[in-house]
Amino acid sequence: MSETERLELPDGVERVLLSEEQIQKRTRELGEELSEHYRGRKPLLVGVLTGAYVFMADLSRAMNIELDVEFMAVSSYGMATETSGVVRILKDLDTAIEGKDVLIVEDIIDSGLTLKYLLDVLQRRNPRDIRVVALLKKLRDDAVPVPVDYLGFEIPDEFVVGCGLDAGRRYRNLPYVAVVRTD
Ligand code: IMP
Ligand code: MG
Repeated sequence: MSETERLELPDGVERVLLSEEQIQKRTRELGEELSEHYRGRKPLLVGVLTGAYVFMADLSRAMNIELDVEFMAVSSYGMATETSGVVRILKDLDTAIEGKDVLIVEDIIDSGLTLKYLLDVLQRRNPRDIRVVALLKKLRDDAVPVPVDYLGFEIPDEFVVGCGLDAGRRYRNLPYVAVVRTD
């Protein structure tokens, strides 16, 4: 944690889990790895709104190949999500993905239900290939198994904010990942 971060933790933030430096370094590594994998193939990066907007901006700029970017917005059906896994598409892709190399860009995998649903939906549109990159994945025994091909960090099962992630529409713009106070 930098001195600035230590001194200026916003109200409600308990501690920094991943510093801005750690995140930027890991994002650059992922960008290089993905550039190697997709060189000459022009992948379509599909960001999942809203949380993935920060990681998408950083990751796409860390990839030095030709690529395209789109966003989808999904919403869970209230409290039922955790058990039913029902997810609703609020904003769909603007273009067809048939025959394309799709890379889903997620902020965090928690129960895995959102990603599982997205993979099901997009797979049915016959892309050439679908891969997943996530900045964070929580260590949970009860998560549904989903393929995360590229991962930034595994984190403990705690509620985190920053780097696009919010708690009650706050903290998305924090440049680090932090645990919020729950009391
Ligand atoms: P899942 O469907 O349970 O994997 O949850 C996925 C979505 O829930 C993520 O894309 C986030 O938008 C949100 N989410 C899960 N855990 C956290 C967290 O710790 N902080 C903020 N948002 C979270
Ligand atoms: Mg998300």
